[in-house]
Amino acid sequence: MYEALVFRRVRAIDPSIALDAEVDVVVEGKTITRVGPRAGDSVSGERVRRIEINGAYLLPGLIDLHAHLREPGQEGKEDLKSGLAAAAAGGFTDVCAMPNTRPVNDTRFVTEMLVRKARELGGARLHPIGSITVGQRGETLTEMADLKDAGAVAVSDDGYCVTRSDVMRRALEYASTFDMPLIQHAEDHALTKDAQMHEGAISTRLGLRGWPRVAEDIIVARDVILAEYTGARYHLAHVSTLGAVRILREAKSRGIKVTAEVTPHHLLLTDASLLGYDTACKVNPPLREDADLLALREALADGTIDCIATDHAPHSVLDKDVELSEALPGMIGLELCVPLMLGLVARGVLPLSRVIDALTRAPSRVVGLPARHIREGCEASLTLVDPARSWVVAPERLRTKSRNTPFLGQTVKGMVMMTLVSGAVAFESLDAVPQAAS
Ligand code: DOR
Ligand code: ZN
Repeated sequence: MYEALVFRRVRAIDPSIALDAEVDVVVEGKTITRVGPRAGDSVSGERVRRIEINGAYLLPGLIDLHAHLREPGQEGKEDLKSGLAAAAAGGFTDVCAMPNTRPVNDTRFVTEMLVRKARELGGARLHPIGSITVGQRGETLTEMADLKDAGAVAVSDDGYCVTRSDVMRRALEYASTFDMPLIQHAEDHALTKDAQMHEGAISTRLGLRGWPRVAEDIIVARDVILAEYTGARYHLAHVSTLGAVRILREAKSRGIKVTAEVTPHHLLLTDASLLGYDTACKVNPPLREDADLLALREALADGTIDCIATDHAPHSVLDKDVELSEALPGMIGLELCVPLMLGLVARGVLPLSRVIDALTRAPSRVVGLPARHIREGCEASLTLVDPARSWVVAPERLRTKSRNTPFLGQTVKGMVMMTLVSGAVAFESLDAVPQAAS
């Protein structure tokens, strides 16, 4: 353990306090003790580590609202250890884990087990999400008070939609009793049976069953009505359609408590990437069309979409190296989110401050994690990024157990150099973090 860690001449960016300045940031123990120009100069001692990377960003620790860590039950794809290591390597200090495990996280016992296990591991901090209904079957509500008491930060049946309106109404009412956000996977399953991809010209050309936009839009429209009626906190997972964006925008303008997240892959890829039947591009909801992608970007930029979340969905070769109709949906995302999003910033698509906000303050509000700031006296949960450093998405670089991503082999720009969780180094890019001369 170091006595002090000095980030020298970093560009500290914390939109929540309108900070964007070149400063030194000093960390002692679990706490940020100094922030300011040359604030590190006066720090002395043998066990002081100074880090200086030209042009590096220091950010509040990133939070992922949506990851599938597969434990319990599918540890061949991912487990808590590899998942939390991948999260830290991606710059995330905190990661929320979806409950579609085996068994489903629908009880206090599973939540407690996850919390207990994660505490003993390094890497990012875990925040379990409990299911809305028992077994994610969409019928009987879980004991949300128990889930919350055991450490769950939200409820979701992600992977499945809560389709029944009566169940959804009661779920919103029940969750709001415990001030828990309800995260909906919006998909009218009756409209998406056997769907392989987005329904459009390309699905027609490929002869594949399509997942129409309206299957998402119908659920979002109904849910907004129910959110207004119940006053509950509703969060929309992985929004993918221009119609859903329009409904969200209208709902927000009327002051309804709705929030939403979008994934990097829905901001970057369209259904055209399935022209070669690449199963790595099969995700749920599916990759849409240019018009959706543009609407999602615009909505993220103007705050209609609050958060960026990875929907990290690791799958084995057995589940992906098969024909498209047999392949399971999902792609890994934890270690790619930062470079992919910085790529959109570099192209002028999104402002840097909004991207950082969407990965820090916005998700912390959704699940009620304490606010984090780059300020003296605050907890040192920080992410150091070198935006100029390029790297190849090579299989051996990744900490996740799975390799299902269409970005494999591509060169991306922007590298997470260090992730500090409450003052402890949860990740550092060993080959790459130089030690400044003192
Ligand atoms: O692509 C997806 N993968 N979408 C989901 O809703 C579930 C997830 C998974 O668990 O693999
Ligand atoms: Zn998911």
